[in-house]
Amino acid sequence: MTDVAATPTQTVRLSVRDRELEYPVVPAVEGNDGIVVASLLKDTGMVTVDPGFTNTASCESKITYIDGDEGVLRYRGYPIRQLAEGSTFLETSYLLIHGELPSKEERVAFAERVNRHGLVHEDFRTFMGTFPRHAHPMAVMASAMNALGTFYPESLSISDEEAIELATVLILAKTRTITSYVHRARRGEPLLYPDYSRGYVEDFLRMTFAEPYAQYEANPAVVAAMEKLLILHADHEQNCSTSTVRIVGSSNANIYASMAAGVNALGGPLHGGANEAVLVMLDEILANGGDATDFMKRVKNKEPGVRLMGFGHRVYKNYDPRAAIVKESAHEVLESLGASDPRLEIAMGLEEIALADDYFISRKLYPNVDFYTGLIYKAMGFDTAMFTPLFALGRMPGWIAQWREMRKDPQTKIGRPRQIYTGSPKRDYVPVDER
Ligand code: CMC
Repeated sequence: MTDVAATPTQTVRLSVRDRELEYPVVPAVEGNDGIVVASLLKDTGMVTVDPGFTNTASCESKITYIDGDEGVLRYRGYPIRQLAEGSTFLETSYLLIHGELPSKEERVAFAERVNRHGLVHEDFRTFMGTFPRHAHPMAVMASAMNALGTFYPESLSISDEEAIELATVLILAKTRTITSYVHRARRGEPLLYPDYSRGYVEDFLRMTFAEPYAQYEANPAVVAAMEKLLILHADHEQNCSTSTVRIVGSSNANIYASMAAGVNALGGPLHGGANEAVLVMLDEILANGGDATDFMKRVKNKEPGVRLMGFGHRVYKNYDPRAAIVKESAHEVLESLGASDPRLEIAMGLEEIALADDYFISRKLYPNVDFYTGLIYKAMGFDTAMFTPLFALGRMPGWIAQWREMRKDPQTKIGRPRQIYTGSPKRDYVPVDER
């Protein structure tokens, strides 16, 4: 491939070896247009190579828009800050899934329907108590998502709209219960039933933290911060876990199987698992006296396995807009709980060093959403291992919206990339005693 030239008619010409070929361009409303290369193999016998899909659009989507250079994030056109400051998690979930903000009546009806489904089957409750106590919560959560579908066979259809809507409500409702159960089971605490009279987030905090024998009133500042964090995590277009959800769903696997796959993909430390990794990193720096200079040297020397966790992003080459909101929130929550955390000072110190250091500046590495979230979760009372499940709880509406969009898209085909084979050419099998 030697030359690519866009023409005003929204096609591009590619010269491939000795042939001139023309390919259509899909225009974006905002952001990058795309060259449709699906017929390239048929036309030329060649495939495109793009490890990590850094330059490949896998779909058209109307859900989330990111401008990584400008630090912009919008759900269905609405700026993330406006939603974080004005909306609730359930309203934002509705927006992502249904495309528009709900009317007053729709908002109430949706919240009521989700809240009414918070209870899980008693056998499911027993199942949640059967994992080893030290099991990583993300493994438990992925298993729970898969298991959930087995309890609701009437919601497994991938084409019946009512069944899909039921599965949507069940997943949003029961992931909250599952997340609180994962937290309690790890501590050997009894699993609590939902209380329908409370809001989604308020009751999540009660189910997670309440003593079974005592009245529980959630701190309104904590409820507000949790609402905000869940909104900030609710979608992020075609990241690793969302692409996983879509590719699993493209095989006609049911929505629960797709969500379970999303949870597994999210757990990796380069993705959602980074929020846990940040706290581990801050704890290590604190244990070594709190001086970040030596740690930063190791990062810049690229010692194997040493990265400044919570920094850098495939798409953002500017401050992650979510990180800016989380950082403000971290100060607010710690203040309202009357808590102080030396790790917040360390984190801000690391950020200050990084933002002035050529290694980070030249690579456009800024704090991402995971850099400050853990400090808030810690102040709220969550164990470090619970941070990524909280990310998954927040991301559930995004995965559902993306799965539903994928199912409705007439262009959806089973996900099946090509490869460039670089192994041995044909050779003959050698019987074992002749080797
Ligand atoms: N610390 C130190 N160096 C870094 C970091 C970091 N956190 N991130 C990237 N770099 C360097 C990397 O070594 C490379 O340097 P060079 O050009 O000299 O080889 C350059 O920056 C580009 O990095 P990359 O790994 O090619 O970039 P990527 O787009 O493939 O990876 C990333 C993006 C998020 C995986 C990566 O920045 C990273 O590992 N960050 C730390 C983990 C993290 O915080 N992940 C959460 C991401 S946001 C939430 C989410 O997606 O769940």
